[in-house]
Amino acid sequence: MNNAVAVYPGSFDPLTVGHEDIVRRSLGVVDRLIVAVAETATQAKSGLFEIEERVDLIREVFADEPRIEATSFSGLLVDFARSRQARIIVRGLRAVSDFEYEFQMALMNRSLWPEVEVLFMAPSTRHTFLSSSLVREVGRLGGDVTDFVSPVVKARMDRAFGRDA
Ligand code: PNS
Repeated sequence: MNNAVAVYPGSFDPLTVGHEDIVRRSLGVVDRLIVAVAETATQAKSGLFEIEERVDLIREVFADEPRIEATSFSGLLVDFARSRQARIIVRGLRAVSDFEYEFQMALMNRSLWPEVEVLFMAPSTRHTFLSSSLVREVGRLGGDVTDFVSPVVKARMDRAFGRDA
């Protein structure tokens, strides 16, 4: 592909090692990736971090990778993608249970912007059970999330839960 730009949208609350895996895999097929935190998520969730904190964490985790940009967006994903001339939307597919929601969103997005393509990436099998909502809950209840998030994310979670060292 010639200077292919993709958007990887999500809530990223918080970014997990599963997301990191999808980001690094995506860089094998696109030239630049915009990791975009949505201000409006389709499925309502009780949040942990503010949008800007999530963006900061993504920036910190991928500080060594110039092909990645982290940002947030409001409004429709397709409008944001079009404004950035990114015709590819990346989403991770962990299991069949993700499929219905993802397929619905993909077709809705394509009916809103026919030129867009949705690229589904399979994560490493080690990460198929991971979700931000479970990581949030485990962290909130005092479980060890070391294996599920980067050290910078873990440190910020510890602070958010009042467990600073
Ligand atoms: O990580 P998530 O919460 O599964 O990501 C869902 C997300 C952010 C990709 C989706 O909710 C989204 O695209 N929100 C932006 C608003 C929008 O375009 N809604 C219509 C989607 S078809």
